[in-house]
Amino acid sequence: MRPENINTVCHRWLLENINEESVCIDATMGNGNDTLFLAEHCRYVYAFDIQKEALEHTKERLAGRENVSLFLASHAEMDKYVKESVDAVVFNLGYLPKGDESVTTLWESTQTAVKKALALLKSDKCLFLVFYIGHAEGNREYRSFLSFLPTLQNVKVERTYTYIDRHDAPILYQIRKIGDEIL
Ligand SMILES: C[S@@+](CC[C@H](N)C(=O)[O-])C[C@H]1O[C@@H](n2cnc3c(N)ncnc32)[C@H](O)[C@@H]1O
Repeated sequence: MRPENINTVCHRWLLENINEESVCIDATMGNGNDTLFLAEHCRYVYAFDIQKEALEHTKERLAGRENVSLFLASHAEMDKYVKESVDAVVFNLGYLPKGDESVTTLWESTQTAVKKALALLKSDKCLFLVFYIGHAEGNREYRSFLSFLPTLQNVKVERTYTYIDRHDAPILYQIRKIGDEIL
């Protein structure tokens, strides 16, 4: 039996944690799959990417939906654009599928963004992160994340998912903010 697709699992877990009143952040809009999914299920979505191509693909996918703000900006600057607390943040890391593989998320900015996302997240709400460890930069990003995770106070790793039949398979994390103070 084929394992369930990691993005399908991520969306299923998201659905258990959001509702039509939720405000969410898509930290890596890419081709817009996660942004569209959030826009269909939430009150409002803020989405970020550093590539114009990603913004254009996402705008097309959204087909005129008005409950979304798209920013051509790094997620490390999300606090400049998002001025309210949020109910979920999704980081689908790595590079744009079918795009320029050299433009990938880098741990230095991901780490800043994760801290800012935790600061914006309401208490008892969750971050969702997908790491792609099959490429060198993604592997470095994941290993750095594993060292960083124990330094975070007031968070709990709720659950993880990967494909057990592949040693370099992507890995999904759901992390709950259990208090107000981060770091
Ligand atoms: C795996 S794709 C995201 C997939 C997307 N969520 C979807 O549903 O199609 C990763 C994206 O992260 C973007 N990215 C890389 N560095 C970034 C940064 N510092 N801030 C925001 N996005 C970034 C890339 O340009 C790429 O489009």
